Amino acid sequence: MRQVLALGVAVAVLAGCDGLVFGPLQKPGGPVSPGITDPGRLRTLTTAQVFEELKGTCAGCHADGMNKPFFASVNAFQKLLVEDTAWVVPAKPAQSNLLALLEGRGTGQYTQMPSTGDTFSKLAADGHTTVNMAELSLWISSLETQVTTPTGPVVDTYLKRKTAEQILNALYKQLGLTESDFINSDLDAIADYATRSPDDYFQKYGEKPGAANWVALGGPNYVEGLARKTDVGATFAQALTPISQAFCRRSILKSGNNALFIDAKLSDTSATAKASIENNIRSLHLKMLGQPATDDDVAELLGLFQEVEPKGTTTAWTAVCSALIRDPLWVFY
Ligand code: HEC
Repeated sequence: MRQVLALGVAVAVLAGCDGLVFGPLQKPGGPVSPGITDPGRLRTLTTAQVFEELKGTCAGCHADGMNKPFFASVNAFQKLLVEDTAWVVPAKPAQSNLLALLEGRGTGQYTQMPSTGDTFSKLAADGHTTVNMAELSLWISSLETQVTTPTGPVVDTYLKRKTAEQILNALYKQLGLTESDFINSDLDAIADYATRSPDDYFQKYGEKPGAANWVALGGPNYVEGLARKTDVGATFAQALTPISQAFCRRSILKSGNNALFIDAKLSDTSATAKASIENNIRSLHLKMLGQPATDDDVAELLGLFQEVEPKGTTTAWTAVCSALIRDPLWVFY
């Protein structure tokens, strides 16, 4: 018998195994760990093990770069799924929606996972997964309320990032700006980076400058039915770079605004006032990232400043300021 499962993203071809059907996205090779469905022999699994065991069934649709990259890494799994009480309530399997979803009893947007074909619990009962519902339940029971982050490389991009609102508020506050600095800006290049919720300005302005930037930062657009996004995909990264640069430059050019100049003046150059520039970098690091800069941090940012300095100190400070905004410490919290 030859069975072909085509599911858009993955195709499992199985030859010569009568009666065996693989679940969506499971690699040919099939169930391993025979015996684990024996209820007498339940294993108590760690989160990292659960990740490994679910991966075969889930990663095809939840890998790096996908909408919900729960299975991009063990850390993504931990941060996005295990630590989200909407899905997993430590020590309370009955209240954990993840299990309901795997059993086809989900009450949210989706009633089951995998989203197509058999439910996970059916696949597990039929022996097509390496972990069963009882073990998943036991795993959740064993999770302590204080979940500790697994060791290993931290995938920074999967920590929780600021929402569009938080980004905008932080930019305005840290850079000494207000919305009107963009709306009435005589600087065309900067007005292009106005960023505003389209749901907010309709009444206020009757037009919609800034909506595209808002949406690119992941802000919702309810009028047009676009949901909020909090992933850190290419769109976000590509939007944040020029937006941060425009906001920083606007801050520097705004007359009477010293938000970015705590220890140095705009006219200071690294040839004449290197110490002031270093001190200012230190102060900005603390102000914008909430953490004292190490000497290495200062040296790195000074290097950036000096690299751009031939184009003028406005551009050099724009580069430093924008680099701080694109620092993971700024973007994530
Ligand atoms: C065939 C593709 C596919 C597979 C396989 C799959 N999922 Fe999903 N899953 C989706 C889609 C599509 C969504 C909707 C969200 C999105 O990615 O846009 C989703 C959403 C989810 C959500 C959020 C549901 C909600 O209502 O917000 C969870 C939790 C989830 N999946 C867990 C899993 C787990 C655990 C597995 C493995 C057992 C799995 N998924 C396997 C396609 C899949």
